[in-house]
Amino acid sequence: MNTGSLSPPFITPPPPPSRVNLFSEIERLKKERHAIILAHNYQLAEIQEVADYVGDSLGLSIEAAKTNAEVIAFCGVHFMGETAKIINPSKTVIIPDLEAGCSLADSCSAADLEAYLNKHRDKNYYVVSYINCSAAVKALSDVICTSGNAVKIVSHVPKDRNILFVPDQNLGAWVIEQTGRTMELWKGNCHVHIEFTRDSIERARKDHPDASIVAHPECSYAVRLLAHEVCSTEKMISYCKNSPSKAFVIVTEEGMLHRLRREIPDKTFIPGPTAHCACAECHFMKKNTLEKLYRALRDLKPEILLPEELRAAAEVPLRRMLEWSK
Ligand code: 13P
Ligand code: SF4
Repeated sequence: MNTGSLSPPFITPPPPPSRVNLFSEIERLKKERHAIILAHNYQLAEIQEVADYVGDSLGLSIEAAKTNAEVIAFCGVHFMGETAKIINPSKTVIIPDLEAGCSLADSCSAADLEAYLNKHRDKNYYVVSYINCSAAVKALSDVICTSGNAVKIVSHVPKDRNILFVPDQNLGAWVIEQTGRTMELWKGNCHVHIEFTRDSIERARKDHPDASIVAHPECSYAVRLLAHEVCSTEKMISYCKNSPSKAFVIVTEEGMLHRLRREIPDKTFIPGPTAHCACAECHFMKKNTLEKLYRALRDLKPEILLPEELRAAAEVPLRRMLEWSK
């Protein structure tokens, strides 16, 4: 007896469509499911190509809030899918890979934040949370912000309140510089953006003396000091379009270069080097592939599901952010 061979009912699943067919299959499933594909600027080029909207966390939240689609296929990391679900409880929100996490979001757990707030009740903190956090952290927050609106949001917070800013200390420090507002900062950071160092960016400046340096605010103070512009990924597009410079060193995750090169073909974009590599890559963002997106649309899973009480509590500070961003 050949114990190694499979006979029915062990049916081998059909092979996935070829790469070319994946594009048309995704288009077909999108129509069949009444789905919209939202993708972050750090996604693989091929995912950006099939998406209905590609943008930063702010743009993606706004798109998620206004879509009429029945299914949202969110190509980004887990907290981004959660954000779409928080705003759209009746819609099906799927993501290609449930394991696409975020080291920054992980640097502030809801349990640690709750314990900190309980220990410092006397401060009556106004909690401003960067959108890179879990739904449970959002539920403990007063307002959410993104890198695209953090300055505006913090400027809106009542002047008589102590602000606790979580979880990114680099973004928080940049907001303090921009607003002059005092804030206490949670000591979290993004493992991708702290890979850029003063030395690596000084090297890039020497190698490309005519290029403008454009950095994300999740970078360290030393790196931000060397940049000509510090902004969210979406603002990088308009900054590079409108700048008289012809070349730019882009100090953020390398996926950003795809959109820049596509939308501004007459300029040169160089990935910012890190201490050890020619560019920085977020392996969480890169967990999503075209094939996983195809399977997610086909099977309507993995799906983002949230307990209703938690979702409703997280919606309050998110809606406040959308209101204050207008
Ligand atoms: P943006 O909102 O600027 O795209 O940033 C999201 C992010 O995860 C940066 O690491
Ligand atoms: Fe999170 Fe950093 Fe990846 Fe952005 S780049 S998703 S902050 S781990």
